Amino acid sequence: MSVTEIARGLEGVVFTETKLSYIDGQAGKLYYAGYPIEALAEESSYEEVAFLLLQGRLPKKEELEAFKAQLAAERELPEVVLNALKAYPKHTHPMSALRTAVSQLGMLDERAEDLSQEGLYQKSIALISRIATIVAALKRIREGKEPVAPRKDLSHAANFLYMVNGEVPSREQEKLFDVALVLHAEHGMNASTFTALAVHSTSADIYSSITAAIGALKGPRHGGANEAVMRSVQEVGAPERAVAWVQEKLAKKERIMGMGHRVYKALDPRARILKKYAEIVAQKHGRTQEYEILTRIEAEAGKVLGPKGIYPNVDFYSGVVYSDLGIPVEFFTPIFAVARIVGWAAHILEYNATDNRLLRPKARYVGELDLEYVPLEAR
Ligand code: ACO
Repeated sequence: MSVTEIARGLEGVVFTETKLSYIDGQAGKLYYAGYPIEALAEESSYEEVAFLLLQGRLPKKEELEAFKAQLAAERELPEVVLNALKAYPKHTHPMSALRTAVSQLGMLDERAEDLSQEGLYQKSIALISRIATIVAALKRIREGKEPVAPRKDLSHAANFLYMVNGEVPSREQEKLFDVALVLHAEHGMNASTFTALAVHSTSADIYSSITAAIGALKGPRHGGANEAVMRSVQEVGAPERAVAWVQEKLAKKERIMGMGHRVYKALDPRARILKKYAEIVAQKHGRTQEYEILTRIEAEAGKVLGPKGIYPNVDFYSGVVYSDLGIPVEFFTPIFAVARIVGWAAHILEYNATDNRLLRPKARYVGELDLEYVPLEAR
């Protein structure tokens, strides 16, 4: 089969089938394994969603308990990784640190090359748990504090916040973070998931795939946008400056971070849900400034970008929620990775169960041919 049309940015190219998620970009709808995202955010938990994505169905009560216990048992980091985290330079971006730490986990796993479904599944569970521990430890180390050891009796969301802040979160905080994790768990063939699959299709180990995916997520056009949004909020400084800031940005043809999406041409349903939670925490905890700035940016930018199908995406309001939970801005994108590891792993498992065909597209050659080679000394 030969396709000669250039699909810029691989837009519209379909290379495999999936049962993991479906995005209706025109209607602004998202489903995980058939379930509307709104219902999962409201009713389920991150662990339930992780089970759903890894196993293709919702767990029964006892299955969920066993799955939670499996995750909890994998939370501890090897001593050598913890020590390495402490030795990383303080100026390094936490995403670079996370990328390096996951790569190190791969070096320590003597069975890293095991590509059986069972082997990949077990490693996925360990990575889901340990990426959370790495990110929380990095945050503590940045603050000059000792990492907090994980607890087995807490949910994934509560344990993460416990490791970050050193105290068990309230039910409200746990639910808030759990919803954020659910909303970020999976999203089709985005850049980082595609990267993970491209690496996996070479039959490389899962740590190589996830390390590469973290690298892809780091970019501000992908997961790095959540940090960039909060930097914009800081730049604007006060709600009354938002309108002028947007107008200036658009006049200079600069992008408004946290808006626009390759697939959604309507409001991202995750942004709608996060906006609701952001408003609640803003009102409740007196953090209305950030929320106000964002709503004004959304309204002003919407006048120009809305007709072009450019609306807030998942990254637009997530920062208000993270800030409320005590998470510093440079850790927003690592939080995305804490959630998205499930989607990456689930896609690897799903693709691995097919013939895992090597991903190898082409670029159309537009250079010259049959040039005469001139020896170095004659040029
Ligand atoms: N602000 C202003 N203009 C925008 C924006 C934006 N946020 N997004 C797209 N546009 C404009 C582009 O300037 C371009 O205009 P032009 O045709 O006049 O040159 C047009 O819309 C198309 O842009 P592309 O980059 O070709 O569209 P693409 O489908 O590649 O865009 C992307 C998707 C990269 C996400 C883009 O919307 C963007 O850069 N947004 C800001 C960064 C961001 O929020 N990323 C997170 C995405 S969600 C996620 O990955 C978790």
